[in-house]
Amino acid sequence: MKRNTSPRAGLLACLIALASAAAHPANAAGTDSIVQAWPARRPARDAALEARVEAALKDLSLRQKIGQMTQPEIRAITPDEVRDYAIGTVLNGGGGWPGQDRSATPEQWRALSDQFQAAARQATPGVPLLWGTDAVHGHNNVRGATLFPHHIALGATRDADLVRDIGRATARAVRATGLHWTFAPTLAVVQDLRWGRSYESFSADPALVRRLGQAEVEGLQDGLKDGRGVLATAKHYVADGGTRRGIDQGVSHATPAELAQVHGAGYLGALDAGVLTVMASFSSWTDGAGYVEHGKMHGNGTLLTEVLKDRLAFDGLVVSDWDGIAQLPGCIPEDCPAAINAGIDVVMVPFHWKPFIANTVRAVEQGRIPMGRIDDAVRRILRVKFSVGMPSAVPATVEATQAPELARRAVRESLVLLKHRPGLLPLPARSRVLVVGAAADSLPLQSGGWSLTWQGRDTTNADYPQGTTLLAALRRRLGAAQVGFDADGTHSDPARFDAVVAVLGEQPYAEGEGDIRMTDNLRHSRRHPEDLALLRRVAGRGAPVITLLYSGRPLYVNDLANLSDAFVAAWLPGTEGAGLADVLVAAADGGPWAGFTGRLPFPWPAGPCQFSSHEARPWWPLGGGLSGKEVPANTKPLPEPADPQPICPL
Ligand code: GLC
Repeated sequence: MKRNTSPRAGLLACLIALASAAAHPANAAGTDSIVQAWPARRPARDAALEARVEAALKDLSLRQKIGQMTQPEIRAITPDEVRDYAIGTVLNGGGGWPGQDRSATPEQWRALSDQFQAAARQATPGVPLLWGTDAVHGHNNVRGATLFPHHIALGATRDADLVRDIGRATARAVRATGLHWTFAPTLAVVQDLRWGRSYESFSADPALVRRLGQAEVEGLQDGLKDGRGVLATAKHYVADGGTRRGIDQGVSHATPAELAQVHGAGYLGALDAGVLTVMASFSSWTDGAGYVEHGKMHGNGTLLTEVLKDRLAFDGLVVSDWDGIAQLPGCIPEDCPAAINAGIDVVMVPFHWKPFIANTVRAVEQGRIPMGRIDDAVRRILRVKFSVGMPSAVPATVEATQAPELARRAVRESLVLLKHRPGLLPLPARSRVLVVGAAADSLPLQSGGWSLTWQGRDTTNADYPQGTTLLAALRRRLGAAQVGFDADGTHSDPARFDAVVAVLGEQPYAEGEGDIRMTDNLRHSRRHPEDLALLRRVAGRGAPVITLLYSGRPLYVNDLANLSDAFVAAWLPGTEGAGLADVLVAAADGGPWAGFTGRLPFPWPAGPCQFSSHEARPWWPLGGGLSGKEVPANTKPLPEPADPQPICPL
């Protein structure tokens, strides 16, 4: 939501809030107005499950209960320590693999999982261990697994059935490696495109986020009891995508109503789908109406407990984010009663887990954490654990981690055509094509962040033996002899070809490392001048130019589009580049061309400072895009500001 942020407006809002607070103390961003902004949901309890939970709970000592609430990273714990400390769950972060081997096979993942599981059951017989991972666009930590397009691309498809099927395929891949839980889907409704996690969001449209988030949870958790599905995670609760200036882990300004209706939309869908875990957000919340600061989400008992667990009747578990508890006042990674008292049930404490256990046991013994809160957390953990069928029913094979045709379909449906000279696309099946741009032959740039490593960097095509670059896909579709490749466009004459395909791209990033900082703006060519230079080299040289952009968000590209005869937002397609060639090139058998079916999940900027998801005059609005079949086209040059590098207003 676009908020009036002028100082006068802020002062006025404060005065109004103070006046209303004086008149109605309970209403000034009081918990009542916060809680009642959300719809009341009714709990659905299973008596047999509850009985099993109670029976297991009473057999656990305090130290074992705290062990169940502790989630170390696999690089920081051994199976013997899992046994000795009765650890209930582990995770691998982005770039965490068994034996720290990025080429670990599904069998090796499965073997380590079996070791952790056996150790856990020695400590607490009958209570299984859960291994969580960020499988956010396929099982992206595992070599050979199919990587699907990231969420922003799936938002462009608007196809809930497709997203549900991707959830099922991802669950199969995760179970193939013996894991049980993915920290997905992200349900952010992004308000500022500078956020480095924009590509993890489906859309700026809350209704679309709700629809696709529900579908993904349904797919992921399908067959959960049978050893096929996995636990999903609704994250990051709540308003992670609403922070000022898109600053990762920053402060979201929203009224209680906006918190529930915009940022909370995805959670209502996920709850309808039966999601069993929720991850707290690193971000903070300030009530935009009264400018009341409510602090970090990891310590917000009103939202974590009164809203999520009581009002919304969520019976699953809340997990903290990576050392997220340390961001609360007075807390450190190994010690934070405030977070547990607020409603965190499982603490993701990757490395400081031993002192965390000792400090938390002491806090309970000293009465700083009520025993009732611990028992509630462990009940939730047991309830979730007993909902997961074990062992896995999926074979530990690379094939079980792959779904290339499903991913190829997702790529096809996600592409958005922003500019097109009528009749240029699809390229005839026998075209001679010059491909330029290093991104055309780069699976890392095609896949983006959260791909084998956390940032998706320091990887090469050799890390993705299963992948197909756009270059390889065009060679396969047109015939290798018909396709030239010239990464920087300096060694070829476009006039000798029927068309040029130019592939531009952002360098992969994840989380805050992808934030566009204060003095920067949305102009892609500011961060990647080589892409503008490339188009200047090939444009107007006797062949039309079809430009594709790999990006994690809409960017300001007027200078690039003005040098192109067609411009395609390709997002971050993942390993199946064949889906790109399917849309760019006509079928050899002359079959009908589907055209471009993707539509923008966010507005596309008309200027370098159009950061908001609610810009009044974008180049294209949310939902925009061409099919490629329109005539006549509107290909008049786009305006380019006189000042190519403006300092944008805060
Ligand atoms: C990260 C992310 C979160 C992820 C977690 C575990 O910091 O914020 O989305 O699930 O840590 O990798």
